[in-house]
Amino acid sequence: MKQIDPQGLIKSKLIDGEDIRLKVKQLAAEISRDYRGKCPLMIGILRGAFIFLSDLVRELQIPAVVDFMSLSSYGTSTESSGVVRILKDLEEEIEGRDVIVVEDIIDTGLTLKYLIETLKARNPASLEVCALLVKEGKQQVDISARYVGFRIPDEFVVGYGLDFAEKFRQLSGIYAIDLAKIERCR
Ligand code: IMP
Repeated sequence: MKQIDPQGLIKSKLIDGEDIRLKVKQLAAEISRDYRGKCPLMIGILRGAFIFLSDLVRELQIPAVVDFMSLSSYGTSTESSGVVRILKDLEEEIEGRDVIVVEDIIDTGLTLKYLIETLKARNPASLEVCALLVKEGKQQVDISARYVGFRIPDEFVVGYGLDFAEKFRQLSGIYAIDLAKIERCR
């Protein structure tokens, strides 16, 4: 860990990689059951969801199509503002299709709210959200994610695809960052 985190920004492990693996299997089993006989379009939100999406689809027992979107949310490095821009749009048409948005983390929920409204306007047959993490008590808008991996306390977290300043995505667990240390580094 010292080489990946030379500044010592990581303060604690919140979720072990093995627990994530089991949870992803469980979520994939639920999706496979709920979408039996269908072929959902799984939309991964870049970049944070890339590891979650790739593990999730490999556990599915039904056919599925994968596509990606990339969004930029204006704000500070650790807080989103709700003003969202689409950096990369879908390559697939979603009209009449069963869509599952795969997101790394729901914090304020502002990014996802914007995304859901944008996708609903394209008339999918159904639209659900699968989020690996939800920060407890932080949502500023009403977001109902049908599939949720873990509810976590209000910490800035990294690992399993999530980053701080583009670092730490490669960690197999979820770790909390020491924000006080980051303030001091600035
Ligand atoms: P929201 O709009 O506040 O819900 O934030 C959504 C996006 O902000 C997520 O998809 C992440 O990319 C990023 N984000 C929010 N909280 C964290 C965190 O604790 N660690 C890493 N990224 C985060």
